[in-house]
Amino acid sequence: MIDNKSNLYEQLQARDQLHVLEYWDELSEDEQASLLAQLESIDFALLDTFLELCQQDDAVDQNISPCTSKARCECKHHLAVGEEIIKRGELGVLTVAGGDGTRLGWSGPKGTYPATPLSGKSLFQLIAEQILYAQRRYGVTIPWYIMTSVSNSELTKSFLLDNNCFGLDRTDIFVFEQRQVPTLDEHGKLILQTKSSIVTNPDGHGGMISGLQQSGALAEIEGRGIEHLSYVQVDNPLARVVDPIFLAMHATDEVSSQEVSSKCVMKTNASERVGVFCLKDGRATIQEYSDLTEEQAASTTDGALTFGAGSIAIHMFNRAFLEQIATSLPWHKAIKKVQSVSGECAAMKFETFVFDVLPMAKQSLVVEVKREDEFAPIKNADGEDSPASSKQLQASRSKRWLMEAGLDIEDGAEVELSPLTGASPSDLELSEIPNLIQSGQQLVV
Ligand code: UTP
Repeated sequence: MIDNKSNLYEQLQARDQLHVLEYWDELSEDEQASLLAQLESIDFALLDTFLELCQQDDAVDQNISPCTSKARCECKHHLAVGEEIIKRGELGVLTVAGGDGTRLGWSGPKGTYPATPLSGKSLFQLIAEQILYAQRRYGVTIPWYIMTSVSNSELTKSFLLDNNCFGLDRTDIFVFEQRQVPTLDEHGKLILQTKSSIVTNPDGHGGMISGLQQSGALAEIEGRGIEHLSYVQVDNPLARVVDPIFLAMHATDEVSSQEVSSKCVMKTNASERVGVFCLKDGRATIQEYSDLTEEQAASTTDGALTFGAGSIAIHMFNRAFLEQIATSLPWHKAIKKVQSVSGECAAMKFETFVFDVLPMAKQSLVVEVKREDEFAPIKNADGEDSPASSKQLQASRSKRWLMEAGLDIEDGAEVELSPLTGASPSDLELSEIPNLIQSGQQLVV
């Protein structure tokens, strides 16, 4: 048995958590060492916070007011300003890819999921190619910061290396790991996953703040002279990863630069399950769909939903702002099923959310974009926000962009546009492509 005078033993005992040592005497030396290391890495002060949260219902401030947004300004001025910032080497890309991807049910890291309709490019490749296209176009390096978690970090790195980083220089990709936190059962107990390990979960996409700070990524970002970070989640194949117009609006809107800017799309109906932008105490924030009252969700102003600005989880962060965030983000509790040593059980996962940094910003902007151009998430294995629905949206954007660029595409033809071909219809270089694509034809460009 482990020394019952040790600090670890006392910490566990004080919280009535000694059951995690139940199989101690059956374990090999290596297993004992591994369990010990995992238990010693528990932040007991944080565990106390979780134990308190177990007793409470999530208290949500429903005192919100509508927040204004600006339309994405497709003017030459903004384009030129954004492109100048990129050419100066002040933009980096940040992708959060540490989630478990439970709903999708894919065995590997979600970023390795084959997402495109015809060629089956992975989600990581789609981001890498957008960066590569921008690097070539602007003659500059755009470093890529990827947040992973303990369960997918090595697999992510080897996937990137096995694919030659999709043409990017490996020294311009910085993979950093987010923290794992203990998962608790419904009675607030640590859960044994095996006889020699406990169940933990990644600390939510909000973990990117401490992940960036503690991994040294933020210092690296500063060292490279990066001023703005384009934040995308790994699972939206239509997210514009390098968007000069959004960058210009973020960096130069009205009087000063924003600390954080966010993209929104108008909700399709009152019950659409996306968080919405709103104001709390005068500051822009996001209210989760489940935290809106029915009245708030349904209320309209001049015929449009009052809280209709839906978040698509795309932000632009000012580097200095990310450095200044010292307060920890609030924890949110979610009930999920997990596998334990004695079978499946209901568990409480605690996570932080990236959008909780929004109210910390003194300057913040919300930019409305076209849903069909920028939002096709892959969350579920089927139905809404699934690979099938995303592929349909990707295919129709490809078709629309090619037609806007002057191509004739018959009904029944299928097209897939590579990010290496361009970042908007006006960029597309079409000289090598036939100008009529006939019904039944499949074309990957
Ligand atoms: P989701 O909240 O949709 O979660 O993450 P998920 O892990 O992809 O899927 P489920 O809920 O288990 O089915 C949105 C984005 O945030 C990242 C994900 O990788 C995804 O890009 N994320 C989420 C993290 O990086 N870390 C986390 O702890 C959670």
